[in-house]
This record gives sequence, structure tokens and C-alpha cells, in this order.
Amino acid sequence: MALVERANPTDRADVERLIAAYHTSEGVKPKPERISWAVEQQMRNRFPGVLIVAREKKALVGVALAVYAPSAELGRVLVIQDFFVDPALRRKGVGRALAAKLLEEAKAMRIDRVDLEVFPKNEGAAAFWKKIGFRTGGRLVFSRDLL
Ligand SMILES: CC(C)(COP(=O)(O)OP(=O)(O)OC[C@H]1O[C@@H](n2cnc3c(N)ncnc32)[C@H](O)[C@@H]1OP(=O)(O)O)[C@@H](O)C(=O)NCCC(=O)NCCS
Repeated sequence: MALVERANPTDRADVERLIAAYHTSEGVKPKPERISWAVEQQMRNRFPGVLIVAREKKALVGVALAVYAPSAELGRVLVIQDFFVDPALRRKGVGRALAAKLLEEAKAMRIDRVDLEVFPKNEGAAAFWKKIGFRTGGRLVFSRDLL
């Protein structure tokens, strides 16, 4: 069974590699400098959030990165930004273990709610989140890039 814990600074290159693989799997071209910056925010505690890794025989096989967002409506919200399990290790409970650790850390941070977004075509991820108790809230997500 994978060991799941908070990332430490020596994990940095592997965390960035897994997040880049995640973005590629979503059809998004990875931006290495942006990934590095986002990981740095968590590794150096520059922005509140959680960065968790899953290890299997010392290799990093999963990552979860979530950031804290204070909301006047929803309270303390933790937003999952990146969540990825090495394709070779899927359907073995690694994702479930990552999510369980994330929720444990969230409870310790007195988080009220955990949010995330899934592309409509990502049926596997939707099935996964539903299976572990997440539900869609009926909201549409609107975005506008400023750069
Ligand atoms: C979604 C993802 C994180 C699941 O990780 P995983 O380690 O395979 O998940 P688990 O083995 O813990 O699965 C737990 C349960 O979720 C459900 N599940 C997981 N993947 C599923 C899939 N592709 N299709 C249907 N159900 C799935 C199953 O009920 C599974 O239990 P079971 O294997 O006993 O049937 C992984 O497929 C992944 O990294 N996908 C690409 C990245 C991604 O989509 N991330 C989420 C974006 S928010």
C-alpha cells in the first residue's frame, strides 16, 4: 500500500513532474515555470494550502495540491487544484488514500468545504469523486484569463 504524507522539499522535482503529467493528461500544455511557482507556494508555506504525495517503494506515484480560499458565503474552503495518480498505479486505492489524507489535513485546518473542478469528458475522475462522497453543486464555472 502506498505511503501518503505531506510533501517534503526533496520531493519537489517529482511533484512538478507528476503535476506536468496531470496537465498533459487533461489536454493542457504544462507551463514548467508556473508549476514550479505554484509548488513553491506550498513547499515554502507562502500561501495556505496542502501538498500531499503518495509513495510506492520510494517512488512518487501520486500528488494532491489544494489551496485555501476564504469565502464569505462558504467559510473556509480548500480548493483542489491538482490531483494525479501515476497511470501504472491506478485502481489500487492510491487516489482514495490521497483524498483521505487531504480531508484529514482539511479537518485539522478547520476547513468547512472542499471544492474541485472536473472536465466533463473526464468520466473516470467524476466517478472517483462521486464514489468517495463528493457531489456536484449545480453551479456553472465561469472564467476569464487576464494574461
Ligand atoms: C481519478 C484518479 C485520481 C483516481 O485514482 P485511483 O488511484 O485510480 O483511484 P482509487 O483506486 O483510489 O479508486 C477508488 C474508487 O474510485 C472509483 N474509480 C476510480 N477511478 C475510476 C475510473 N476510471 N472509472 C470509474 N470509477 C473509478 C472506483 O469506485 C474505485 O474503487 P474500485 O477500484 O474498488 O472500483 C486517477 O484516475 C487519475 O489520476 N486520473 C487522472 C487525473 C485526474 O483526472 N485527476 C482528477 C482531476 S480533479
